Amino acid sequence: MSEESEKERLFFALWPTPGIQEDLASRARETLGERRARLVPAANLHITLAFLGWTGPEARACAERAAGGLDVKAFTLVLDRFGYWSRRGIFWAGPAMTPAPLEALAEGLGKALEDCGFERDQRPFKPHLTLARKASKLPPRMVVDPIEWPVERFVLVASRLSPAGPKYIIQQEWPLGGTVPDSPGGGSP
Ligand code: 2AM
Repeated sequence: MSEESEKERLFFALWPTPGIQEDLASRARETLGERRARLVPAANLHITLAFLGWTGPEARACAERAAGGLDVKAFTLVLDRFGYWSRRGIFWAGPAMTPAPLEALAEGLGKALEDCGFERDQRPFKPHLTLARKASKLPPRMVVDPIEWPVERFVLVASRLSPAGPKYIIQQEWPLGGTVPDSPGGGSP
């Protein structure tokens, strides 16, 4: 097998439970109503922590070691905002406040992956789940009934592209330390 054909398109992510995915997807449909949009299927909803792109076996092994070396506590993520980025019509869900362990996880992964030779995304980390693409205009921010997501693991995912859209396959998972603390109480400032 050639080096090229061994490459996979990989990313690290937080993967919600099917219940949270379904809840988000049905609220997304409700909010969009009759608007034009390309909805992301419920089972594909996730938060990207770091995007690796096409990755060969050696770089992948380095990334997996980096992930295993992180020491980050479990946390509750309060999804209480929907938003809209107009340039590409991205309709998303996210937290009003990013919990410190989530910042630490994204930052820790970013640094460790740089040491493996991956290029780091220079944009600030904005945790979000893309609910739909190419959506017609929505308000830039919407306050929604919070969904509380106890985050106890992060995962490495392969994205296999096809004309029907990407298929995401979880490759490996790493637990976060400790037990999930009580919710910060809704998370809104
Ligand atoms: P998005 O949802 O904001 O588009 C798989 O493609 C995941 O990796 C998506 O969640 C996507 O984020 C994210 N991602 C981050 N950087 C990317 C890039 N340069 N190319 C493709 N996807 C990227």
